[in-house]
Amino acid sequence: MNEFLNYSSEPADKDAFTKGLDRAYGLIARPYDIGVKLLPVWKTWLKRAIPHIQGPRVLEVSFGTGFLLTQYAGRFNTDGIDYNEKMVAVASANLKRKNIAARLRQGNVESLPYEHDTFDCIVSTMAFSGYPDGQCAMSELHRVLRPGGRLVLIDVEYPADGNRLGMGVMRLWVGLGDLIRDLGKLLHEFGFDYTEEEIGGFGSVHLYVATKRS
Ligand SMILES: C[S@@+](CC[C@H](N)C(=O)[O-])C[C@H]1O[C@@H](n2cnc3c(N)ncnc32)[C@H](O)[C@@H]1O
Repeated sequence: MNEFLNYSSEPADKDAFTKGLDRAYGLIARPYDIGVKLLPVWKTWLKRAIPHIQGPRVLEVSFGTGFLLTQYAGRFNTDGIDYNEKMVAVASANLKRKNIAARLRQGNVESLPYEHDTFDCIVSTMAFSGYPDGQCAMSELHRVLRPGGRLVLIDVEYPADGNRLGMGVMRLWVGLGDLIRDLGKLLHEFGFDYTEEEIGGFGSVHLYVATKRS
């Protein structure tokens, strides 16, 4: 079915894309924080990652305002990286308020400041569709994950049964600027073994639990 789906082409100017998105996140970081805390459906999707997180070393990429970090980071040796300075500030305050320790920093998924094979698990939710270069991002996630380590990815993808409500929600994601990718194909290309599950949005939100082959 996937050959017939309308996947996004990647932006010609990747730097301009990332900077434009960053300006938008800078403006909405605080309302975003309130939105995530108040929207049960968003929290329900993100929490689906938790049972799959394995330690001891965990990296969350693009943690936003850090809601998911507040749910698990205290149980692991946790690092986090997000491109947007304001998101990093809001997430740091959220963790501090709950007395949860994690090393958060600003940075780009396309050049992760970590050694090869560092993490037992990498988590990324609702962010991959905002990266302008899927190959580059996946290559970095793969590089810093140890062999046998786990990538837990939640993002938007077409519902397998093409149901009308799910396809309608996909149009909304596209309208919001998300880049829709065949994430299963990308994981396969990078040599991950993975499972995929539709977890919400009428089949438009998918959870991937992927293992880097040893
Ligand atoms: C839609 S938010 C998702 C936040 C959170 N993971 C959640 O599920 O609510 C996307 C996040 O990706 C971050 N982001 C965008 N481009 C990035 C990049 N190139 N590298 C790292 N983070 C990036 C943004 O700053 C933002 O915090």
